[in-house]
Amino acid sequence: MKTIDDIDVSGKRVLVRADLNVPLDGGRITDDGRIRASVPTIKALVDRGAKVIVCSHLGRPKGAPEPAYSLAPVAGRLGELLGADVAFATDTVGESAQATVGELADGRVALLENLRFNPGETAKDDAERGAFADRLAELADVYVGDGFGAVHRKHASVYDVPARLPHAVGGLIATELDVLERLTEDVQRPYAVILGGSKVSDKLGVIDSLLDKADRILVGGGMVFTFLAAQGHEVGKSLLEKDQLDRVREYLARAEAKGVEFVLPVDVIAATAFAADADHAVVSADAIPADRLGLDIGPASGELFADKLADAQTVFWNGPMGVFEMEPYSHGTRAVAQGLIDSDAFTVVGGGDSAAAVRTLGFDENAFGHISTGGGASLEYLEGKSLPGLEALEG
Ligand code: 3PG
Ligand code: MG
Repeated sequence: MKTIDDIDVSGKRVLVRADLNVPLDGGRITDDGRIRASVPTIKALVDRGAKVIVCSHLGRPKGAPEPAYSLAPVAGRLGELLGADVAFATDTVGESAQATVGELADGRVALLENLRFNPGETAKDDAERGAFADRLAELADVYVGDGFGAVHRKHASVYDVPARLPHAVGGLIATELDVLERLTEDVQRPYAVILGGSKVSDKLGVIDSLLDKADRILVGGGMVFTFLAAQGHEVGKSLLEKDQLDRVREYLARAEAKGVEFVLPVDVIAATAFAADADHAVVSADAIPADRLGLDIGPASGELFADKLADAQTVFWNGPMGVFEMEPYSHGTRAVAQGLIDSDAFTVVGGGDSAAAVRTLGFDENAFGHISTGGGASLEYLEGKSLPGLEALEG
C-alpha cells in the first residue's frame, strides 16, 4: 500500500474517505472521537498544499437526504479541530459539491454531505455503485482511504473510487492495521478477549476464529444470556437468540477441547423492565428470576473479569458489558474498563460503541494502549475476512 508520503498531493484535489460517523443527540455531537482521529491525515495533506475534499457516511439513511443525518454539525467540529474553516457542500456529487470543490484553494478543506444520501453508495449492484463512484472520482485527482470504521463495507466511496484514481492509505488506517497485527501475529500471551454487546449472532464469526488464537474469552453484555441459556440456565426475560443455542454449545465444547478458557458472569443485575428506574437486584447468573431481565453483569463478575485480565499480556475488548447508558447498569462496563487500565497488557478497545462507552464514562483515553475507531471493521479483520476497503488500497 502507498502512504500519503509516497504520492504528490501539492495543488491536487485529494478526496479523503474518512469515517465521521459520530453519535448525535439532535444536532449535538456526543462523542467526537472519530473526528479527532481523522484530523492528523487531513492536516498532513493541508500542510502539503492539497485541496482536501473529505467525505463520509453518517448513520444509515436510505439513499435519500434526511436532515437528521446531515454532516453539517461535523463540518463545524472538524473546522474547530483543524483551526480553519471547513467549506460544507450540501450535496455529495451535485452542484453544491462541484462548486465547493471548484472554489477550494490549495491547503483548504471541504466536507461533502453524507454519502448515504445517494443510493449508489451502498448499492449491491456493481454498475449502480460504479456510476456513483464515477461521479465522486470526477471531483478529485487523488484518493486517500482513511475511514477505518467502514473498510469492511463494499461501498462506492470505500471500494470503487480507489479503483478509479491514484490512491494511498491514510495515517489512521495505517495505525489501526499496526495494532491489529499485534493482535494476530506473534501475540504476547496470555491473550484475553472480552466480548459484549447485544447480539451474539454478530460475534459468532470472531469467536470461531478466536478459539484458535485467544487464551481466554470473557463474555458479557446482552449476548451472554444465550451462553447462559446454552448451559441450561433460566434467563427470564433477558435477550436470547434461541436459534444460536446449538452453535454456542458447540463453541463452548470446542473451547474446552482446545483449552481456551471461557469466562461467563457469575452474577447479573436483573431488572423488572428495560428502564433506569426499574426495580433491579444482583442475582446469581444461574438463577435469573423468570419475570426479570439481565441488564448488566454483577459486581462479583466485574471482579472476576478484572482478575482474568490482571496477568494478561494482550487484551482486546469489544462491546459493553451492560446498558451502560443507564447508570444502574454501567458498573460492569466500568469494571472491565478499569481492569484493562490496571493490567500491564497491551490493551485495545475495539470499536464505535465500546470506544464511546469508555469516553462517555469518563475514562482517560491515554490509559489504554489503543482505542480503535472501527468496531465491525476490527472484528471482521480478526475473523480473518478480506476487507473491501483494504483490498482496494492494495497495489
Ligand atoms: C460504524 O459505526 O460501525 C461504522 O461507521 C460503519 O457504519 P455502518 O455499520 O452503518 O456501515
Ligand atoms: Mg457500528
